[in-house]
Amino acid sequence: MNYATWIFLGVFLTFAAAWLGLVFFPHEQLSGLRAQKDADSGQVFPPPYSGEALYGRSVYVREGCWYCHTQQVRGGDYNADLARGWGARRSDPRDYVHDAPHVLGSMRTGPDLANIGARQPSDKWHYLHLYDPQLTSKGSVMPPYRFLFELRKIVGQPSPEALELEGAASPAEGYEVVPSREARALVAYLKSLDRSYEFKE
Ligand code: HEC
Repeated sequence: MNYATWIFLGVFLTFAAAWLGLVFFPHEQLSGLRAQKDADSGQVFPPPYSGEALYGRSVYVREGCWYCHTQQVRGGDYNADLARGWGARRSDPRDYVHDAPHVLGSMRTGPDLANIGARQPSDKWHYLHLYDPQLTSKGSVMPPYRFLFELRKIVGQPSPEALELEGAASPAEGYEVVPSREARALVAYLKSLDRSYEFKE
């Protein structure tokens, strides 16, 4: 064989080994994963997203929340994810069977959100935080998402959903700030992020 054939073979085998290791074997191992059904209670784990949460998920993807937030709790001794209270157990590939596209993220400018629904179940907190992170978390570098809210003239009774804004943050007399449909869906999605269930295996 001449040199060209050896070089071609070398390059081919390198790419073939990489494809087998990074694409083929992981696909064989994980693509058959399905949600698990508990025979006694009939519950499905992970539970499928509600329609509203799915809509909220599309807002999460569109707004690029995943630029700053991961959704994967790592186990092992080499990191502090569990000690930080980001989850009761490490993430499992099965946790993501309903997720397309995946929003695992890679940067952790903010905390991991894999279990934010368990950690922070309050709608009121999420609305205030999205409207202006400074109101709940002084010094936060998270951007405000005010465009997900509507400034509305109060007609009759004020809305029960209106944000309780104080001081400089409060709207003009006779006006209220209410979450838009997108904000409500986004918060429904955040609250559905709770992977504290256990799998059988
Ligand atoms: C520029 C980076 C950045 C982006 C983009 C960002 N965040 Fe954050 N986020 C942070 C930081 C930093 C914190 C921690 C301080 C705080 O609570 O505001 C945080 C905190 C949070 C928390 C509270 C987490 C906890 O454990 O208390 C939630 C919920 C959250 N972000 C949701 C979102 C959502 C939803 C979006 C997209 C609409 C988003 N973030 C976009 C940086 C970001």
